[in-house]
Formats: sequence, C-alpha cells, structure tokens
Amino acid sequence: HTLTVLEYKGRWLPDFPREAIAGMDTFEARHDDVIVCAYPKSGTHWVWEMVRFLLAGTTDLPVIEKDEAMMEFKLPQELENLPSPRPLNTHYHFELLPEDILRKQCKVIYVTRDPRDVAVSYFNHHTKLVQYYQYNGQWPDYFRLFLSGQVDYESWFTYTKGWERGIQEHPELPVHITSYEELQADTFGGLKKLANFLGVEVDETFLIQVVKKCSFEVMGATKGAQEVFDESSSPIMYRKGKVGDWKNWFTVAQSEQFDDVFEREMVGSWAYNLYSHTKQGS
Ligand code: A3P
Repeated sequence: HTLTVLEYKGRWLPDFPREAIAGMDTFEARHDDVIVCAYPKSGTHWVWEMVRFLLAGTTDLPVIEKDEAMMEFKLPQELENLPSPRPLNTHYHFELLPEDILRKQCKVIYVTRDPRDVAVSYFNHHTKLVQYYQYNGQWPDYFRLFLSGQVDYESWFTYTKGWERGIQEHPELPVHITSYEELQADTFGGLKKLANFLGVEVDETFLIQVVKKCSFEVMGATKGAQEVFDESSSPIMYRKGKVGDWKNWFTVAQSEQFDDVFEREMVGSWAYNLYSHTKQGS
C-alpha cells in the first residue's frame, strides 16, 4: 500500500490547494505573528488553542479549528485577513519555513512528541481519512511507511533533526520548545511558560480557565463534534489524547526495530535525551 500525497518540488505534502502551498514561498510575516510548529500528530491543535486564548486574553472566542490558521493550507489572502497578532501553525520542516519568519524574528513554538505515539496517532489519522489518502493498510504495513518516512511531511527523524539544527543555527530566532508529554504531565505549568514566552500578562484564574477549555474532553466535545466523522463516529483529531498508547499497538519486534532506527538516527540529539530512556530494552 502507498499513501496518496502531493509531490510538490520534491516534497511530500497532503493534497492542499497549490496556491496555498506556493504562498509559503512568498509569505509575508508580521512582527507579532506567533507560529506553532510541529510534526503532524504531536499536539498542534492543543497548543494552537492555548496560544489563541493567550494572545486574545480571553477564552470567549468562536469555536474554530487550527486549520483556519494553517499556513500551507490557507490561501495567502485568507492568512492576510486574519487580525494581528496571528496565531499561525505549520508542519513544515525548519529549512522550508518562509524566510520572512526568520527575517522578522517571529515567535516560534516548537512542539515535539514521542515518535511512537506519533506513529500510532498518524496511522489512525491516515486510515480514518481513507478517502483523502486512499490508504487502507493495516498497522504492520503503516509501521514500515512511518519508519521510512513515506508519509506526508515525510520522516519524523529528518523533521526533528532538522528543527534541532535550525534552532541551533538561528539563535536570534525566539523559539519556545515544549513537548506533548510535558504538557500532559503539567498542563498548567506548561501554559504558564508559554504565557511568559509570549510576554502576555495573565492571572492564575485565567490560566486555569484556559487549561479547562483546552482539555481533551472540552476540545473533543466542541471542536471534535464539528468534524466530519468516520464510520465509527470517533473524532479524528481528538482520538485518545494519552501518553504511551504505542504500547497497545507495537509488538515486541516492532518496538525493537523502532529502537534500532531511533538509536541510529537520533543519538546525540535532544529528542534522544527526551525519549531514549523509555526504549523497550531500557
Ligand atoms: P492521539 O491520536 O494519540 O489521541 P495534532 O493536533 O498535531 O494533529 O495531534 C493530534 C493528537 O493530539 C491526537 O493524539 C489527539 O487526540 C491529541 N490531542 C488533541 N487535542 C488534545 C488535547 N486538548 N489534549 C490532549 N491531547 C490532544
């Protein structure tokens, strides 16, 4: 099985409007843009929602999806129409980020997640959106595709190493790094750090309100309920919302294979320090 993706200038992307994708090359940033950057299925919806509330200073906002502010999905004019400060988001690799973001030194929030949970989440994403991706493979088949990066936005390993390198090579760029696991372990603490990074003045009561509004349950019930449902009627973007679901999917052999690739690709990286201690053999 293969996934149907759009091949654009040698990149593998979802089949988004060509004009939107082309718009990334000439994107005009604003100094106060905030950009949530993550490999798909790493918690982009969650963090974007937090940023949206923090920038607005209220949780009393219309229920809209992060795709409304997804840079490679929306047309340039639609992005232009968004009021400042814009909470934007993208799954682009660091080296493909629009240059104007670096030039204007926009605030960037980089979110990472245990690649095994990403793989499981992405498998559910691809198989639930079967009509879009024309993919109906089983988990063992998908595992192979994920490991070799034959999915839209390509390899998690390349993506993650590219972001690490990019951040190191651009110390002038204000980047806040967080992880899905950190936010799960202490959502309030993670949110507070986010607020500090964004330089927004917020009190504790407001932060507690944001934590609640951004909970998996609330987002699933409001935003998830607006999704086009799959056959089993479970939302695609708000599936399970847990750390470590990979253990319910990976066989021992898959886990060992994953560890081998992880070791080979990531040794010496930040991600290695974050996730290697949970390797099957450890
Ligand atoms: P699972 O498939 O493991 O449940 P993204 O937003 O980058 O596409 O990531 C989607 C993943 O984040 C899904 O993971 C989804 O359930 C989870 N998620 C979405 N909203 C969340 C929330 N408010 N709290 C925790 N996890 C959330």
